[in-house]
Amino acid sequence: MRRVITYGTFDLLHYGHINLLRRARQEGDYLIVALSTDEFNALSKKKTCYFDYEKRKILLEAIRYVDLVIPEESWEQKNTDISLYKIDAFVIGDDWKGKFDFLKSQCDVVYLERTPEVSTTDIKVNLKNH
Ligand code: CTP
Repeated sequence: MRRVITYGTFDLLHYGHINLLRRARQEGDYLIVALSTDEFNALSKKKTCYFDYEKRKILLEAIRYVDLVIPEESWEQKNTDISLYKIDAFVIGDDWKGKFDFLKSQCDVVYLERTPEVSTTDIKVNLKNH
């Protein structure tokens, strides 16, 4: 079985996220999503989420492409996660292109093209202007 992992915040889940998750799952047979916790978002990513961790987790767990959701609590946990969960491929959107090449010693690293013209940030801005 080929095991895949991806990382992200996935707030205000949108079709760009679904596209990413579908293609990530196609890289293998089992997809783990490491979901940024509220604390990690606030302290390290400087993001405030609309939906808290538990709600974002419920949404992700309802998606057929997602097999397991675990917390992302630090930038450094990736090496440990990859060993612990016996990961074959690390997948993420190409806004991160090149940033995680250091994981190539542990598993495949795949950057997927982002879906154009949608992001959580844009949704928030557009709704504010309505
Ligand atoms: N993603 C994507 N296409 C989009 C938006 C996101 O493929 N249009 C991917 C990202 O590249 C990442 C994952 O979805 O691998 C989670 O991204 P996240 O940062 O949570 O979503 P964004 O909509 O980019 O949120 P923000 O605007 O807060 O950065």
